[in-house]
Amino acid sequence: MGFREYINQIDEKGLLRKVDVEVSKKLEISGILKEIEPTPVMFNNVKESEFRVVGNIFCTKNVIASYFGVTPVDLIPLLSKAISERSEPEIVSNAPCQEVIESNVDLDKLPILFHCEKDGGNYISSAVVITRDPDYGQNMDFHRAMQFSKEKFATRIVSGRHFHKFLEKNAELDVAFCIGNTPNILIAGATSVDIGVDELQIANALEPIKVVKANSVDLLIPAETEFVLEGRVYMEKKHSEGPFVDLTETYDVIREEPVFEVKKITHRKKAIWQALLPGALEHKILMGMPREPTIFKKINEAGVKCLDVNINPGGCSWLHAIIQIDKKTEEDGKMAIEEAFTGHKSCKHVFIVDKDINIYNPLFVEWAMATRFQGDTRMIIKDKEPGSSLDPSAEPGTKMTTKIGFDLTKPLVAKGKSYNKANFPKVDINKYF
Ligand SMILES: Cc1cc2nc3c(=O)[nH]c(=O)nc-3n(C[C@H](O)[C@H](O)[C@H](O)COP(=O)(O)O)c2cc1C
Repeated sequence: MGFREYINQIDEKGLLRKVDVEVSKKLEISGILKEIEPTPVMFNNVKESEFRVVGNIFCTKNVIASYFGVTPVDLIPLLSKAISERSEPEIVSNAPCQEVIESNVDLDKLPILFHCEKDGGNYISSAVVITRDPDYGQNMDFHRAMQFSKEKFATRIVSGRHFHKFLEKNAELDVAFCIGNTPNILIAGATSVDIGVDELQIANALEPIKVVKANSVDLLIPAETEFVLEGRVYMEKKHSEGPFVDLTETYDVIREEPVFEVKKITHRKKAIWQALLPGALEHKILMGMPREPTIFKKINEAGVKCLDVNINPGGCSWLHAIIQIDKKTEEDGKMAIEEAFTGHKSCKHVFIVDKDINIYNPLFVEWAMATRFQGDTRMIIKDKEPGSSLDPSAEPGTKMTTKIGFDLTKPLVAKGKSYNKANFPKVDINKYF
């Protein structure tokens, strides 16, 4: 399903709020989206642009699961299968994303949002970035981009990302920033797989897509994306980037980052701009969800039965993982902790719980900590290890951090009081009221 089809579908179901009064791309659309998050909103009348803006589209696991026609617990197997059984998208020669071709680039005409007061500029935050290396082939990932002129951005490329490796090797590269995409493409772009794997094949395995050759660069791009900004990114041409709101909802610092020069813009007729609030639920879900299968896989490969993983928004959907296991031996909890840190290297705190604990309800997890955990025997402290550059409390520059694993599982044999919650009688409540 295309992005637009999906928007029409949620509109028909009455799930899309619409704002018809004039709103500004500067400090207004972002405020409205945040205020009514996770409700999807379409802005039909943007002061500074002829284009419409839509946001809060894929903010929860429930929404993403229902997009794929599954339930949230099916997402880990779905994504794992798509990673291992990748498939080539169909190549087409005519595509909706090229209905309009704009050679005179003027970024001011686009509804590129200015999100929060201290931001360094207007930012694209929802673009999947497609690029190609002569040896490794195509790569797709996310890179925020701060507009600083009518045709240029500074784009944040974290060291170690495959795009960063491609740029170190090639000095400059053609790119396509694609805006307005469905979850198969968004999730694939957020997935970290081996270098040389084209994430568009993961997207296609999640839900078949068509791709088309970009208009001015030799790249295959999703045919139904709403906007495509084609151009070149330069490793050595830099511009200050930031401040901007990070995944942790705190401000990231200003850095010198590569310049992205836009040379051509293509878009659908009446194209819809996809807003994605930095640090908000949609950003979080897209960051955390692709790490759940990697943790799940590592734990199961080590012989511990992992049932489910939740990289929860409370832990910034990055720094915490709550893991449900079917405990068979006393060592399972600690083994699961070790494997979880291998499966998601940026994770800082890991919580292992039994199968009777609902990992999506923080009260249940806290209950397990309160009743099943002893700090002297059930806690693994890993001091110091490389953690996440996103964590404000990690050592600046080196990202060194203290990782802790909490084994909140109950002992297999209780020596004293019971570890189980008592059951109240089940009644048919309608009989009484
Ligand atoms: C909404 C969103 C925004 C992101 N922004 C950036 C960014 O600005 N810079 C960056 O290097 N990574 C960013 N990331 C993370 C990478 O895109 C992600 O880790 C990706 O899997 C890396 O791909 P790679 O394994 O091909 O290098 C973002 C991810 C999401 C979901």
